[in-house]
Parts: sequence; C-alpha cells; structure tokens
Amino acid sequence: MSEYYKINTYGCQMNVHESEKIAGVLEELGFEECPEGEAPAVIVFNTCCVRDTAERRALGNIGVTKAEKKRNPSVIIAVVGCMPQQEGVAEAIKEKYPYVDIVLGTRNIDKLKDEIQKVRASYARKRKNDKRYRVFDRSMPEDYLAIDEASPMTRTSYPNAWINIIYGCNNFCTYCIVPYVRGRELSRDPSSVLDEVKRCLDEGYKEITLLGQNVNSYGNDIAGGEVNFAKLLHEIDKLDGKFRVRFMTSHPKDLTYEVMDEMAASSKICSNLHLPIQAGSDKVLSDMNRRYTRERYLGLIAALRERMPKIGITTDIMVGFPTETEDDFEQTLDMVKQVRFSNAFTFIYSPRRGTPAAAMPQIPYSVKQKRIERLINLQNSITKELSLGYVGSTYEVLCEDLAKEGMACGRTDDGRLVNFAGGAEDVGKFLNVKIDSSKSASLFGHKEEI
Ligand code: 5AD
Ligand code: SF4
Repeated sequence: MSEYYKINTYGCQMNVHESEKIAGVLEELGFEECPEGEAPAVIVFNTCCVRDTAERRALGNIGVTKAEKKRNPSVIIAVVGCMPQQEGVAEAIKEKYPYVDIVLGTRNIDKLKDEIQKVRASYARKRKNDKRYRVFDRSMPEDYLAIDEASPMTRTSYPNAWINIIYGCNNFCTYCIVPYVRGRELSRDPSSVLDEVKRCLDEGYKEITLLGQNVNSYGNDIAGGEVNFAKLLHEIDKLDGKFRVRFMTSHPKDLTYEVMDEMAASSKICSNLHLPIQAGSDKVLSDMNRRYTRERYLGLIAALRERMPKIGITTDIMVGFPTETEDDFEQTLDMVKQVRFSNAFTFIYSPRRGTPAAAMPQIPYSVKQKRIERLINLQNSITKELSLGYVGSTYEVLCEDLAKEGMACGRTDDGRLVNFAGGAEDVGKFLNVKIDSSKSASLFGHKEEI
C-alpha cells in the first residue's frame, strides 16, 4: 500500500525549490505525494522566518498536527528550514510541540532520509515507557555544496526549473534575519550549474530561473576571480534551444553594467528584473545598511531602460523601518512615482530577534498600517495604468499552468501574468497571445494562430 507525504512550504522561491529537494528525498524513501482526501505518513513544514506573519502561520499549522498525531500516532512530523535555524527556536519547538519528531535547519535537508528511518524504527519498536526518538539539528556543514550536489530532486514547477546558484547572504541588512539563518555566501561551481541547466533543457523545461539571495555576488567566494554572474549568464545564453532565463534576487549595490549588457544582448534572458529598493530615503537606506543611494538606484533604472526600453522591473518595499519618518516615507512614495515599477511586493517592517533594527525604538503599528495602505494604493494605480498599455498588442507568452474554468496562464517576456482560454495541451508552449483587457496586474487575452 502506498504511503504519502505532504510538504507545507512557506516563504520565498528558494524555499519552494528546497521543497523540491525534500520531495526528492521522500520519494527516494518510497513515499508518494499525498492525494486529496488521503492521510499522509509524513508531514513536512518547510518554514520561513523573514517576517512574523510567515512564522505565525507556520506555528499555527504545526499546532494543528497535534490532532493528526492523536488519530495516527506514527505519523512523522518534521519542521525544517529557516525558522528552526534561529537561535533557540529548535529548542522552543521541542518544548512547545512535543509531537514534532524531526527539526532540521537550512543546511540539513539531506539528513531527512536517515532521520525519518530512525523515527520509523523507534515507532516500530516503541513499548510503553520508551522515550521516543526525536532529532534537533541546526548544524552548518562545511561541505554543504558537495552534499547539495548529490541531493535528489522532484521538480514540481514545469515548465520552469528553479536552479540555485548561490546559497546564503553576506549583506546583513539591519532588518533581515536571512544571513543569520542561511549562513555566508556559497557559490556553486559554474560547471555544475551549467550541467543542471543542460539537464533541465534536455528534459523539456522551457524556463530556467536562477536563484540566490543575491545572485549578483555569484562567484565572489570562488578563488581566482574568473567567475561572476554576467559570465554565467553568458554561458547559459550560448546553450541551444528555445528557452527563457530569469533570475532573482538582484541587489542594487551589486548589479553591474556587465550583467545589464548580457541581458540586453541575449534573446533568452528575459527583459525582467526584480530589484528590491526597500526604501526611498538615503537616511533610511543607510540605516538599513543597503549601501546604495536613491541616486544610484535611479541611475541603475536609467541604465537598464536605456539598454532594454521595455524591461519590466519589480521590487520589494518596506514601510515602518524604525528610523522612517513621515518625510522619509514620502521619499519612498516619490521613488515609486519616478520608477514606475510594473509591480511591487510591499511589506510592513517586522522586528526580527537578533537583528540590529529590532533593538531600535519601534514605530507604532497604526502608523505602519497607514503608510502601507498609501503605498499599496499608489502602486496599484501605477500597475493598473501600465497594464492598459498592453491592451491591443500581441505578446509571446510561455504558458505555465492551468487557471480557473477553461483558462490557462503564462507570462510575457517582461514578466506580466496573462490569462487566456486554453488547456493542458498549452502548458510548456510558447504562444502568441493578443491582450484584450486588463485588471490591475493581470492581463486577459486570446491565443492567436501562428
Ligand atoms: N520585515 C519586513 N520585511 C522584511 N523583508 C526582509 N526582512 C524583513 C523584515 N524584517 C522583506 C524585504 C525583502 C523581502 C524578501 O522581504 O523587502 O526584500
Ligand atoms: Fe536579507 Fe539584505 Fe541579504 Fe536580502 S541582501 S537576504 S535583504 S540581508
């Protein structure tokens, strides 16, 4: 009889991809993805701790598994990823959630296989007063890259293949927990990355998304100074076949003209860039330790648009950083108006334990709430206006998935989501779609005969 696994993923694309590695490990053990209505034998929570909301959501859902464990005492519950990697959190989970069996940090996914087997064995031989086997491991193995290269993977995002190129972050923005939980930057060997890209293309993937907390520092930790992100893009671009390349995330202090030139010269690298601005005032940017100014940011935007006039630029913006005054916030709004992002992910600053900004005097929540509402309203009106500009024209769209009621969806080269009448046969195909209408960030159209 089949045994099933269920993975609950929180947070960024990096976590979505890491869940593909977790699925790979579980499938090697013989588990299958849990169909609707069946009971899983293994439940994994792949967690995020970037903001309080993500953490609370995960903890709430972990709490719900108490009932699951009552129904089926041998169900294995694992909590992995960023949350338990924080100082003291694995221990807190151990105390407060006694039914959790396995807790592993960000660089321990490979251990899931052994640990699941140990937990199963302990359940099988458990007699009344025996202590249950539980594991809490948040070590950071030195040879992580080698371990990662050998890890199995079950991709779940066809026609897109996520490919990690660099792990960790060295930047220590003062609000951010990531460098503490994901460790220092570790770049994968370029030949391993290229091999993985080739394998994915051979398997029929049509879009490659390169992942890293800061893809622009790719290669900085590889001796010899020969490897950098622009050169990696160049090598990928030379590969045969029709496919798209995207990447995230880029840090404005590290984005180079060399990368922009590669993007502009390439027919495969999409005219699309995610470039988090975070804030619009130089004072706040400095307090955040972002190491760029609004002038530098605007200079990058101008240089990108000079090379790629139709580039779609998205961003992350935070409001309510401890030192943000009303005037600083107005400067964020001003940058949003000047740049005209195609879309923005907006966040209320959330203090993270152990980061410098968490120790500063905080802004009342009601102020942050008002600021984010103003920011969202402004960005929505810009997105809406930009969307109207697509109506009436035809775009090449890579169909990515099915949507509701006979609809399919995909993206334009510049990253816009397009919905159109379509079916399973369209997924993974490049189609010409004429845009008929738009609604905020979404475009609606119909396939044109080629
Ligand atoms: N509070 C709110 N947002 C945060 N981000 C990172 N740390 C925090 C925090 N403490 C946002 C940043 C980043 C995105 C992934 O999450 O905008 O770019
Ligand atoms: Fe966090 Fe800054 Fe690193 Fe991004 S660059 S992961 S915001 S520390």
